Amino acid sequence: MSLQRTFIMVKPDGVKRGLIGEIIKRFEQKGFTLLNAELMTIDRSKAEYHYMEHQEKPFFGELVDFITSGPVFAMAWEGENVIEVSRLMIGKTDPSEAMPGTIRGDFAAAKEENVIHGSDSLLSAEREIENFFGLLKRRSLEDDFPFEDR
Ligand code: TYD
Ligand code: MG
Repeated sequence: MSLQRTFIMVKPDGVKRGLIGEIIKRFEQKGFTLLNAELMTIDRSKAEYHYMEHQEKPFFGELVDFITSGPVFAMAWEGENVIEVSRLMIGKTDPSEAMPGTIRGDFAAAKEENVIHGSDSLLSAEREIENFFGLLKRRSLEDDFPFEDR
């Protein structure tokens, strides 16, 4: 058993297509706890830091163009093994290989616009949550103060 936090983001294509509610619903139904969420349009420096592991890749420029092209819906979720489980719920990077029943398998058609991001490790989850929300102190829905100073 491992209680984890992860960073999940509905990308600009998913926001435009009205998929925020569907995606929140799947994570809630799975039993995960929403810690923070915000609709925001991010600048290039936040996008480049978010995707830093890809900065040498040929698709990096277009990836940053895309992720800054419109509002994203950024979320922090908590739950048992939520990092690995959410990657399973999201499906493979290339939607043509993503299984039906996964979010990309059900809603996405191209890997350049694949609807959703999910952290791939403990380290990236912490870095990504901090990049979007700052240091997140809220631990559960039972906390008295849902959004502490950060
Ligand atoms: P990656 O971290 O490999 O995938 P994931 O989102 O499943 O963790 O890549 C980050 C994003 O970069 C991916 O969601 C879509 C984009 N991308 C491309 O545009 N072309 C590519 O060939 C790859 C591998 C990714
Ligand atoms: Mg990734």
